[in-house]
Amino acid sequence: MSVLIFGGLGHVGSWVAHDLARQGKKVVIFDMDAGRFDQLGLDYLEEVRDNLVLEPVDVLDTHTMFERVGAHAREAEAIVFGVAVIAGPTFRLRPFRNISINTTGLLNALEVARVFNIPKFVNLSSGAVYGDQPGGQTEETPIKVTDLYGATKVANEVLALQYGETYGMDVRNARLYFVYGPGKRPSRMHALYQAMFGPLEGLSGVASPNGGDQALDWTHVADTAQGVVKLLQAEGMAGENVNISCGVAYRHPEIVERVTRLIGHDSGMTLGPGSFVPRGAPLDISKAQRLIGFQPRFADIDAGLADYRDWLARGAHRAA
Ligand SMILES: NC(=O)c1ccc[n+]([C@@H]2O[C@H](COP(=O)([O-])OP(=O)(O)OC[C@H]3O[C@@H](n4cnc5c(N)ncnc54)[C@H](O)[C@@H]3O)[C@@H](O)[C@H]2O)c1
Repeated sequence: MSVLIFGGLGHVGSWVAHDLARQGKKVVIFDMDAGRFDQLGLDYLEEVRDNLVLEPVDVLDTHTMFERVGAHAREAEAIVFGVAVIAGPTFRLRPFRNISINTTGLLNALEVARVFNIPKFVNLSSGAVYGDQPGGQTEETPIKVTDLYGATKVANEVLALQYGETYGMDVRNARLYFVYGPGKRPSRMHALYQAMFGPLEGLSGVASPNGGDQALDWTHVADTAQGVVKLLQAEGMAGENVNISCGVAYRHPEIVERVTRLIGHDSGMTLGPGSFVPRGAPLDISKAQRLIGFQPRFADIDAGLADYRDWLARGAHRAA
């Protein structure tokens, strides 16, 4: 049996692929970047390469989606949907394109699951569905939309769960939050990410225009992937929404200070006032701990930062 991962070469998807393939599963990755796999620098996938099948597919190309998923559908036990244009200051600049990728992309994935009878579907959602409500949000906290990205995540959750209800599919929403760590080079990310994590890669002098007054539960990608895999494989979670984060919010200037301490010198990073995005923190992760046995390894951010530094230092990340 195999798991199909849409967006399986992305930050979260690639670690989910890694963890499943390490279990011995066959993982079929559908990703626009699949044709450039060797240039992505995802060195952690090398040890599991024999268990991966790569399919260069655009989730907006419905015809090719059906053709290529059809080729793997007989042995597919589940789909993980992790394609997205993620939250950030540029999302609002191309709303039609970005909303289409997030939401029409999900709809195409739900359709292939329905038509090919793939029984389980994990939708990678976000704590963005709580908008700017204060931290401690549980899965019972009402939905609130505070930006267009959040609107796509709410729409996707509703569509996914209703597909589950209507067609008897086992659908689960994993509400992820602010991911960092191996697989992403800070120099390829937005200014706040660069200002916080960039010194681990040797960057200096980055001025983030905002984020200096916000605390968020930045979560090491290995923990995010652990939570997604646990949710995928847990019994009796059909129709559930589950928060997955490290559960501890750090003020952004404190992250800058901790990185400075870790590398032993100041990198001249500055954070402008206000919030990066309208979100509260931290997510309450007790449901994930109770029902799927999720336990973040890197709740202590210093350990997560050191792990990230080590990956960046290894250098195999050059193209990522
Ligand atoms: N990264 C975060 O901080 C974060 C936080 C909360 C939720 N999430 C959610 O987790 C999921 C994964 O996020 P990520 O950080 O891994 O994102 P990412 O940007 O690293 O990965 C997205 C992947 O999707 C692929 N992709 C983009 N457009 C495509 C298309 N049209 N067709 C096929 N593939 C396409 C990209 O090539 C990339 O590999 C998303 O649903 C995101 O909304 C992420």
